[in-house]
Amino acid sequence: MTIERTFSIVKPDAVKRNLIGAIYNRIEKAGLRVVAAKMIHMDADKAKGFYAEHEGKPFFEDLVAFMTSGPVMVQVLEGENAVVRYRELMGKTNPEEAACGTLRADYALSLRHNSVHGADSPVSAAREIAYFFADDEICPRD
Ligand code: PPS
Repeated sequence: MTIERTFSIVKPDAVKRNLIGAIYNRIEKAGLRVVAAKMIHMDADKAKGFYAEHEGKPFFEDLVAFMTSGPVMVQVLEGENAVVRYRELMGKTNPEEAACGTLRADYALSLRHNSVHGADSPVSAAREIAYFFADDEICPRD
């Protein structure tokens, strides 16, 4: 059994609509554990650094504007194959393409306001976790 960590964000559109608890409930029902969490309001530098790989793409400025438009919840999730399992739980980036029962199908408003982020690989997860959390802010669970 491979216990893995992934990184997740509840985005400003979902925080604004009071959906933190609903999304955490779905994460926990899927068998993933929250091992670190905090609410933050990113400034432009923090968001640009996080999304640096997308700099230059047509949606980059919109993405940064959206992610700095209000507070977000950032969290570290732990569980078996956590990266892939959380990606499956989120559904496709565009909610119109997301499978029924996924977080984006149920909660996202549009491609831009798509409610949740999840790391796309274990390497990205490690980088993204370290971007927001110090080691001593993460509490492994049995
Ligand atoms: S790519 O080019 O395929 O790597 O991009 P993709 O993985 O689809 O999306 C990367 C992040 O950009 C967000 N995104 C957008 N934001 C605003 N407007 C538009 N049109 C748009 N298209 C994509 C998308 O939600 C991804 O954000 P995260 O936080 O990684 O889910």
